[in-house]
Amino acid sequence: MAFSKFSLIISLLLSSTLFLCHPVLSDNEEDNLYSEINKYRKSLNLTTLTKNDNAECLAGELADQFKNQPCTNTTGANTVPGTEPQLPNYPNLLAKCHLNVSITRDGAVMPACVPGLDPSLVLTNFTKSLYSENLNDTKFSGIGIGSDDNWIVVVLTTSNPEGSYSPAVASGADMISKISLTYCSILLLLLGNMLML
Ligand SMILES: *[C@@H]1O[C@H](CO)[C@@H](O)[C@H](O)[C@H]1NC(C)=O
Ligand SMILES: *[C@@H]1O[C@H](CO)[C@@H](O)[C@H](O)[C@H]1NC(C)=O
Ligand SMILES: *[C@@H]1O[C@H](CO)[C@@H](O)[C@H](O)[C@H]1NC(C)=O
Ligand SMILES: *[C@@H]1O[C@H](CO)[C@@H](O)[C@H](O)[C@H]1NC(C)=O
Ligand SMILES: *[C@@H]1O[C@H](CO)[C@@H](O)[C@H](O)[C@H]1NC(C)=O
Repeated sequence: MAFSKFSLIISLLLSSTLFLCHPVLSDNEEDNLYSEINKYRKSLNLTTLTKNDNAECLAGELADQFKNQPCTNTTGANTVPGTEPQLPNYPNLLAKCHLNVSITRDGAVMPACVPGLDPSLVLTNFTKSLYSENLNDTKFSGIGIGSDDNWIVVVLTTSNPEGSYSPAVASGADMISKISLTYCSILLLLLGNMLML
């Protein structure tokens, strides 16, 4: 009896953990680029860029906007760095990610189009192009990466308010995602302990 209760609890925990914790797992291309960019930074004795959720949100929204445009010799790393994407709905995309122009103006938005997101081409599109000027820059401290189809977008953030990508007040959606992340970690911990019994 005790045993079946125990296994019921285990399976409940397991399924809710799998269900809730799924979004925590993220894309390979993005994670790969994230660690490669930080290796590049390390090789230049620069600080590690930490993940910024709002920057990541914006990068994802932008990649989604670009995805239907084919790669040409004027897209991607060939676009002039430092220029914000000229999209008419850019303010809406910012708002979707709890951002506005006054807290993103010092950041850098770098889209690149690479067929199939080939990892080595993706990396050199950032490290061996004019974009490297931003990657070399000590003023950046945070990063968000998003991709869709052949497009990958890197957004860099600073530690000053004008490029922090940090809204003053955490929104409801942020709170919920923080709470579910915490819940997730606790469940995983519990599960780990139970399996060790
Ligand atoms: C990074 O720091 C190490 C140790 O201080 C030094 O040997 C190396 O030349 C530095 N590299 C760069 C690119 O500045
Ligand atoms: C892009 O490619 C077109 C056609 O292949 C060529 O005419 C043009 O000069 C190229 N532009 C750049 C900036 O390389
Ligand atoms: C960037 O990616 C394109 C493919 O879209 C590739 O042709 C080009 O060589 C890459 N540029 C660099 C600097 O790696
Ligand atoms: C960034 O730093 C690398 C390594 O020092 C260098 O090769 C590259 O030219 C720099 N990029 C720019 C745009 O200055
Ligand atoms: C942008 O967001 C910041 C922080 O949330 C806020 O203080 C500021 O008033 C906003 N600016 C505009 C122009 O909406």
